[in-house]
Amino acid sequence: MPRNANTEAARLSVAPMMDWTDRHCRYFHRQISQSALLYTEMVTSPALVRGGALHLLDYSPEEHPVALQLGGSDPAELAQAARMGAEAGYDEINLNVGCPSDRVQSGTFGAVLMKTPELVADCVAAMKAAVDVPVTVKCRIGVDDQTPEEVLPDFIEKVRSAGCDYLIVHARKAWLQGLSPKENRDIPPLDYDLVLRVAAEFPDLPMSINGGIETLDDAEALIARGMTGVMIGRAAYHRPWDILAEADERIFGDKPVSHSRDTVIDAMRPYISDHLENGGRLHQITRHMLGLFAGQPGARTWRRVLSEKANRPGAGLEVLDEARDLMAHPDRLAG
Ligand SMILES: Cc1cc2nc3c(=O)[nH]c(=O)nc-3n(C[C@H](O)[C@H](O)[C@H](O)COP(=O)(O)O)c2cc1C
Repeated sequence: MPRNANTEAARLSVAPMMDWTDRHCRYFHRQISQSALLYTEMVTSPALVRGGALHLLDYSPEEHPVALQLGGSDPAELAQAARMGAEAGYDEINLNVGCPSDRVQSGTFGAVLMKTPELVADCVAAMKAAVDVPVTVKCRIGVDDQTPEEVLPDFIEKVRSAGCDYLIVHARKAWLQGLSPKENRDIPPLDYDLVLRVAAEFPDLPMSINGGIETLDDAEALIARGMTGVMIGRAAYHRPWDILAEADERIFGDKPVSHSRDTVIDAMRPYISDHLENGGRLHQITRHMLGLFAGQPGARTWRRVLSEKANRPGAGLEVLDEARDLMAHPDRLAG
C-alpha cells in the first residue's frame, strides 16, 4: 500500500482488547492522543450479519481514526460485515487471526486460522472487494508446533497477494491447547527479531509489531529498527498517560499541545454527562480511567474512589471531583 493517512496513523495503535477497548475507552484514549489509531474490541461477523447486532458498530465521531476488528472465517459473511463497518464510517477493517480463546476457536476464528492461510487470503480478498477502506490482518507468528520462520513468510505472502493493506504481528506464538487466553499473551516467548527480519522481506507491505511493548522508548526503537508501526495493548490500557500523552509529538511529529491529566478529565466531563443523561452508569466510563494517574502520587486514591463509588446507583461527576480532591488531601480519606 502506498503510504497513506492510515499507514501514518498506524505508527502507533492501541490494540483491540475484548471488554476493554469499548467506545468509552476509545473516547478516553482519544483525549490523550489525537493521532494514535484506535481499535475496537473484536466484533464477530456472525453477530453483525446473522445476529443483526448493529449496536456493536456504535462509536463517536471524535474517535477517528478508528479501526473495526472483525472475527470470522466465512469470506462472504466477512465481506458483508466489512461493508457494514465501512458504511458505519470506520477507517479500516481488521481481521483477527491472533485470538486463541476457546469460544473463538469453536467458531473457527482467530489464531487457529494461522493453519489455513489460503482461507485467510480468501477472507481478505472478499473483504477487499467489498470496501474501499484499508483491509488489515492481525496475526501471530504461528501456532502450536508450527515453525514461525517457515509459516509466517508463507502466511504473509498469501494475505499480501490477496490485497491485505497492512499487517500487525503479535510477536509470539499462540498455543491452542493447554493455555488460557491470558497465558497465551505472556507465556509463549516474544520473538521481535523474527518479526523484524520478516518485515524486511516484505518492503511493500507495511507492518506493525505487537506484544510486550511497555514504553514509548521501546516503540521508537522498534520503528527505528524498521517497523512501520507499533501496536500497544495492556501498557496503553493500564498506563494510558505514559504511552499516549507524548505519542503525538514523539511518534507522529505533531506540534506539541499543552495537556495534562486534569485537562483530560475536563474533556471527559461533557461526554460523561451525556452518557448519564442517556441512562448510562458512571462506572462504564470511569473503569477505563483508573490508570490515568498510574505511577503518580495519589494514584491509589484515584483508583479506590472511582472503583468504590462510580458503580453506585446515581453516581455522577461529583465522584470524579471527590477522587481528585482526596488525592490532594489524603488525610480526608476514611478507612
Ligand atoms: C483483555 C484483553 C482482550 C484482548 N482481546 C483481543 C481481541 O479482541 N482481538 C485481538 O486481536 N487481540 C486481543 N487481545 C490481544 C491484544 O490485542 C494484544 O495482541 C496483546 O495484549 C499483546 O499486546 P500487549 O503486550 O501490548 O498487551 C486482547 C488482550 C487483552 C489483554
